[in-house]
Amino acid sequence: MTAIVTRDFEVASAPSAVTGVSTESSEYAAEVVNASLSYGDNQVLSDVSLRVGAHEIVALIGRSGSGKSTLLRLLAGLSQTESGNVRTAGYPAVSFQEPRLFPWRTVLANVAFGLVREKVGKAAARERARQTLAEVGLTDKAGAWPAQLSGGQAQRVSLARALVARPRLLLLDEPFGALDALTRRTMHDLLITLWRDNGFGALLVTHDVDEALRLADRVVVLAGGRIVEDISVSRPRDPHAHDDPDSEIPRLRAELLAALGVADVAR
Ligand SMILES: Nc1ncnc2c1ncn2[C@@H]1O[C@H](COP(=O)(O)OP(=O)(O)OP(=O)(O)O)[C@@H](O)[C@H]1O
Ligand SMILES: [Mg+2]
Repeated sequence: MTAIVTRDFEVASAPSAVTGVSTESSEYAAEVVNASLSYGDNQVLSDVSLRVGAHEIVALIGRSGSGKSTLLRLLAGLSQTESGNVRTAGYPAVSFQEPRLFPWRTVLANVAFGLVREKVGKAAARERARQTLAEVGLTDKAGAWPAQLSGGQAQRVSLARALVARPRLLLLDEPFGALDALTRRTMHDLLITLWRDNGFGALLVTHDVDEALRLADRVVVLAGGRIVEDISVSRPRDPHAHDDPDSEIPRLRAELLAALGVADVAR
């Protein structure tokens, strides 16, 4: 079977095969329905279904090799399912662990590149890029080259490039994995601010259970090619929830670590 990737709730191919999937609703930023994918005889995803609400942050965790990036790549349209449907609200923006900036373009031009699919004139693109750079606090780096940036600054430029087209879905593949603990915290706050201001749905792949619990409305665990846990956080992004001894966070952390097959040694 061929993959069905639908953008903007229009059917990209084989219309009859999307029967049962609404093409009208904008309730979800992303919808994966019964998706399976294998590489040779390595079955990476088996009948995976996952929905990301229009204004929801979903964290996706799982052991190395469990298929997290594969699922993200499906949503990004970078690979295809063998069966099942994948639908996103418009073209998703993607940000990876490495910022992947063009070294031969200035910071401003890198951000403006995020508008390549839009019919925006050069001057308007630069203006929008400038505004988005301001949102990530890097106005003063507009004329700099990627090589002149710190790791955290480069990651902020990558986020700006992802968000400049105002996507309804943001896909993040371990975007903070290479950063030190302090920069990571700053990036968490920035992501939350951008999410509040821009109102997109986000799927965040992370290895870090605490990062997942700090940022997400829901945390899902991928193991053995399937979603084995789907946990809602009742006080999402509430910093006090992490310090409150009566909060659910320690229990959720233990539950998620158990699903990953890791003992909770943190506390
Ligand atoms: N292009 C490819 N060709 C063949 N096998 C692949 C390909 N991409 C991924 N795989 C395999 O698919 C499985 C899932 O890989 P994936 O990159 O999705 O894992 P992951 O959960 O993102 O791991 P990590 O946490 O290490 O990034 C692995 O067994 C990997 O070897
Ligand atoms: Mg990966």
